Amino acid sequence: MTRVHYGADYNPEQWPEETVEEDIALMREAGVTLVTVGVFSWSKLQPEPGVFDFGWLDALLDALHAAGIGVDLGTATASPPAWLAERHPDTLPVTAEGVTLHHGSRQAYNPSSAVFRREVGRMARAIVERYAKHPAVVMWHVHNEYACHVAESFDAESAEAFRAWLRERHGTLDAVNEAWGTAFWSQAVSDWQQVQPPRVMPTLHNPHVALDWKRFNSDAILDLYLLERDIIREYSDAPITTNFMGAFEPLDYWRWADEIDVISNDSYPDPANPRSARDFAFDSDLMRSLGGGAPFLQLEQTPSAVQWRRRNAAKRPGQFRLWSLQTVARGADGICQFQWRQSRAGAETFHSGMVPHAGRDSLIWQEVTQLGADLERLDGVAGSRVDADVAIVWDWQSAWAKRSSIGLTDSDPLATARDWHATAFEAGIQVDFVRPGADLAGYRLVIVPALFALGEDTARWLEEAARAGATVVATARTGVVDEQGHAHLGGYLGPLASAAGVRVTDQFARAVETTSLENAVERPQLLNEIDPSVDRITAAVRTPSAEDTVAIAPHGREGLGGVGIGWLERLVVEDADVLGRFRDADADEWPALTRATRGRGTFWYVATDLDAATRATLLQRLCAEADVSPVLAGLPRGVEAVRRGNHLFLLNHGDETASVAVSSPASLIGSQPTNGRVSIEPRGVVVLDDANER
Ligand code: GAL
Repeated sequence: MTRVHYGADYNPEQWPEETVEEDIALMREAGVTLVTVGVFSWSKLQPEPGVFDFGWLDALLDALHAAGIGVDLGTATASPPAWLAERHPDTLPVTAEGVTLHHGSRQAYNPSSAVFRREVGRMARAIVERYAKHPAVVMWHVHNEYACHVAESFDAESAEAFRAWLRERHGTLDAVNEAWGTAFWSQAVSDWQQVQPPRVMPTLHNPHVALDWKRFNSDAILDLYLLERDIIREYSDAPITTNFMGAFEPLDYWRWADEIDVISNDSYPDPANPRSARDFAFDSDLMRSLGGGAPFLQLEQTPSAVQWRRRNAAKRPGQFRLWSLQTVARGADGICQFQWRQSRAGAETFHSGMVPHAGRDSLIWQEVTQLGADLERLDGVAGSRVDADVAIVWDWQSAWAKRSSIGLTDSDPLATARDWHATAFEAGIQVDFVRPGADLAGYRLVIVPALFALGEDTARWLEEAARAGATVVATARTGVVDEQGHAHLGGYLGPLASAAGVRVTDQFARAVETTSLENAVERPQLLNEIDPSVDRITAAVRTPSAEDTVAIAPHGREGLGGVGIGWLERLVVEDADVLGRFRDADADEWPALTRATRGRGTFWYVATDLDAATRATLLQRLCAEADVSPVLAGLPRGVEAVRRGNHLFLLNHGDETASVAVSSPASLIGSQPTNGRVSIEPRGVVVLDDANER
């Protein structure tokens, strides 16, 4: 990418043909450089089996090219046409309950259907063959948001594909029985036909079947992507993308990222949530990391409200621009919205667009044109990278193991990683995400947040990082099970115990079955309902497990105290220093926080989930030890600072004008510095040449 792109999904098939001319004039006015076309055009491009109508798309691509607007051309397969469902009902997905999901919305397909795959191949090939050499096409957009609506199908064909996948992974039925722990509850299978997807059943499912089912579905859908990707490659060398959805749980985006040229993302944080800037930051850091640090594209977001929440808050004045520039700061080389012209009819009529129902005479259009002008001034940012000294380990496979397991927590298995990212965001520390086994050479601090499932390779990898000089910190519920979801024996942490110098012998869930305070703390009513004047026996019973917090007292000269939430573990310390101890009725003086010296680095373990304040204090300690600093120290409330390449972005998320000391004589974007300070209005942004600020 040679510039920071600006644009949208462009779906002109909803409008009379004349609209295109006006659209293109407006795109030029707004500074649009890139549009995604054709994503949902299957029924218009192929109204009947074997009958193609490309006339309108020919004219559209020609017109866009003549206007200097690049096209990210969709393969049109995201919303299968009515004729496919009518002729081949077996292409429709089936839920775990056996309910068929019908045509009339979108994404109504069964990923393993041979007929669907055949028709996808035909549609994609027809488009690619025709437009591979069209000069407007700068990128290919395969499908759309894979698995967003349908991430699994329980039909007979999918069951057969699951069996084939299991054969490949486990080889024999004996191995399947072993991996699935079928000796329990009489679940052993003696014939492949007895192997079934985890449909609705009388009570608890088998966690290991559930885990393999998630793996299978991620792979099956990836296979669908590869089918189209490979067709495109037969005809064109242009970069290929498919749009991700942040930390979308059903797909292992690390595996997907290996097959994608340009990582792209769709982000829709809720403007009514004060934490939404964290979510944008999180998504951006994850996308940049998925691409190995390369710039990514924000392929979808919205200028204002969406239409799919219960209450659809509009973005506040300036927020669209602020969050867009925040995304650029964290590594995006393109900011595109869903969609260009707000629909007049259909399910997304009240989803905002760059050209709103009111047209140019609207607040949205003012912001749209302003952002276009800003992005033009940021051309020098394109291609540059964001450096981070801190890595957060993020693993879909472990999340699936946790989600499939029964009994430890019901919370979002990725919540602890989100919490640590949020803590780093609030502290102004730049972080990357890494997958198990990644190169950790450039990182001084490695955070391992509740990495539930891990095997020996991952344990060795983390120990080596510490020995090579990194500060590594693992948090409660790390290493509980192996890759197949079987409990580690002899103390949790399993193969990581020697690196940590501790073993986890017992686990205690507290009142809140959650990994963090951020995820809804609900103290049981129970305790409040006890009346000591009548409940003579009950009132004398103490129940620490119904208390949501546990105090941690600092221990020793370098001790660190604070508050744990919802969970605690009993550690047997074998080769580590204790820095904090629980203060608790049943766990008094138990080690809560440990640190072991390993080679040139250290390995820390936290035996509870920390509250936000304690996490912030611990992060500060870890950063001090690892020699990691925030982008800028002493920033006013509400201001985020991000370094990207030669640029320093100052983003004021707050409601008060902020003043920041700077050395640059001039700003690239935003108000100009005077007397060594720059003032940033609420939801305003200043971008400076970073060379002056170091
Ligand atoms: C995305 C989708 C778009 C549009 C948008 C609305 O999930 O890719 O097509 O529906 O949501 O927010």
